Amino acid sequence: MNQDCKVYTLLGIKKYLYVVAFLSFNAAFADTEVPSPYSATPGGRVSSRVDAERKETIRLRYKTGNPIAGQEKSQLCQGCHGTNGNSTDPLIPKLAGQHINYISKQIRNYQDGTRTHEIMEAMASTISDDDLADMAAYFASQNKMKGSGGAENPRGKELFTRSDTTKMGIACVNCHGERGKGIESQISAFPVLGGQHKDYIRQQLINFRSGDRRNSPYKIMNRIAESLTDIDIESLAEYVSVQP
Ligand code: HEC
Ligand code: HEC
Repeated sequence: MNQDCKVYTLLGIKKYLYVVAFLSFNAAFADTEVPSPYSATPGGRVSSRVDAERKETIRLRYKTGNPIAGQEKSQLCQGCHGTNGNSTDPLIPKLAGQHINYISKQIRNYQDGTRTHEIMEAMASTISDDDLADMAAYFASQNKMKGSGGAENPRGKELFTRSDTTKMGIACVNCHGERGKGIESQISAFPVLGGQHKDYIRQQLINFRSGDRRNSPYKIMNRIAESLTDIDIESLAEYVSVQP
């Protein structure tokens, strides 16, 4: 095998490992059937592939809350994130229709310092497990966030949908869904991006690229953002934010 071949094989293996890591991460959540925010009992059915302990950990961390109670409990949050989770400040993320597990995970990350932001760390430190479940259920149960519906940025579209344009060989669409609208409505830990504020998306991609934000599983988003140029980031932020 010549040198080029060896390098190529190594790169292939590395990419393969990321894909396996990603799939097993996805499977861990997919195996847990989290009921809709409106169902009466928390918890859910889990296939035999996930052992009991793991099932319990996931259930406790991502238990489903009561959106009606969450509406009342999240009054303070709504002051910044908007009444229905549709914030007007371009640097405050919309939470409307965001995946419940993603919202819960972010609050846990602000609590344990794996995601840093002065205001949100302070806010998160006041939230109990039960309140978190209810608040997340409230925002997740709102109509999904919407963009202006304006013209799509062509470069952004290409980067978002074509796997051969990313260093990892997995396009954004595979994890974030068509037009960034997410893949599964209630269980996914992959956030909805379509219709999110452009300035917020741009900032998060910059933070992933610089390593200021490092809370994605297996550092997946850091690896992805590493290969993006400023123009790529601008184009992607533009593309996802306009999605209606
Ligand atoms: C003073 C304004 C303010 C208040 C009040 C506030 N937030 Fe935030 N929130 C922010 C900002 C700004 C960010 C973006 C932080 C960052 O860049 O990490 C954010 C980020 C988040 C995120 C991450 C969203 C994403 O897409 O990754 C969640 C979830 C969240 N807030 C939930 C809440 C909840 C629940 C409350 C109430 C307990 C709350 N916030 C109160 C300003 C606020
Ligand atoms: C292999 C799966 C995967 C791929 C491919 C992927 N992402 Fe992500 N992305 C994630 C996960 C998982 C998170 C949530 C990280 C966390 O838990 O904080 C995320 C988070 C994000 C966020 C932060 C959202 C928020 O509300 O704060 C942005 C922005 C983002 N991704 C953009 C992109 C873009 C643009 C691409 C393509 C260039 C992409 N992602 C490709 C898995 C992926």
